[in-house]
Amino acid sequence: MDEPVIVVTRRWPAPVEEELVRRFPHVRLNVEDVPLGPEGLRAALEQADVVLPTVSDRLGAELFDGELRTTFLGNFGVGYDHIDIEAAARAGIVVTNTPGVLTDTTADTTMTLLLMVARRAGEGEREVRAGRWTGWRPTHMMGADVTGKTLGILGMGRIGVAVARRAHFGFGMPVVFHDPVDFEPDHGIPGARRVDTVEEVLALADFVSLHMPGGGENARLIDAAALARMKPTAFLVNSARGDVVDQQALIAALRSGTIAGAGLDVYEDEPEIPRDLRELDNAVLLPHLGSATRETRTAMGMLVLADLQAFLTGHPPSCRVA
Ligand code: DGY
Repeated sequence: MDEPVIVVTRRWPAPVEEELVRRFPHVRLNVEDVPLGPEGLRAALEQADVVLPTVSDRLGAELFDGELRTTFLGNFGVGYDHIDIEAAARAGIVVTNTPGVLTDTTADTTMTLLLMVARRAGEGEREVRAGRWTGWRPTHMMGADVTGKTLGILGMGRIGVAVARRAHFGFGMPVVFHDPVDFEPDHGIPGARRVDTVEEVLALADFVSLHMPGGGENARLIDAAALARMKPTAFLVNSARGDVVDQQALIAALRSGTIAGAGLDVYEDEPEIPRDLRELDNAVLLPHLGSATRETRTAMGMLVLADLQAFLTGHPPSCRVA
């Protein structure tokens, strides 16, 4: 393919956009940073050789029907449940993602959520900003200790392991984990215990952290029954995908005290977050910031570019998912 037409669906970090423009004469950047929507995405697939989407673009099977020009989709992000990769593959499109480069940053965000919800940091900040703090007192805003508590990990991939390592080596937390496809005994974390079921993790952990992909059989895995299996003193942390948790069931569990709190970076219907959830003080809510550092977002973009370059020069992309 000589000089491909490339559509980038959202703004990317400046160093990556500069590199794209330097290398390719026919790049269309989304200067306004407004999501293209289904029609814009369909037009991109019909008119461009390469489309570079991200999690805010929903690329369902219907978008891949019929005549398309695109042969390469380089997703900016590790999760690709927003792309029907089987339909893309049937349409002859190669799809890549960005694993590895965001592991530590996402694990750091997960620990931020865990610490914030345990120590009521969001609530405390709101109190100070609203001018409602009346001074130190022994019973003021008491949270829960983190050190020495049990961390339960569901999904022991790269990010799950990175969170477990931080929690164990940094906070002395015993780790219990479940993963349906990973059978490594302890991932080099002393005492880490692999268990056979999700239910065991839910029952044993003081903090349950989710690290599985979204969609498929993981959709609403954490429903009312799952939440009821957790200790009433336990916290749920989700930096994976919003659809893994039944959001209404979580709201009910947070209200009734079925669990103590939740730290969330992802939601069922982003960017919509129900008012009922926003009003709960025992929920820490971040706007999908998992990988949001300058360094990591630049590395993600550069990885997409490296795989695009490989594809265009007839080499196998290193992060091909379809
Ligand atoms: C990821 O990399 O999967 C982030 O959640 C953004 O898509």
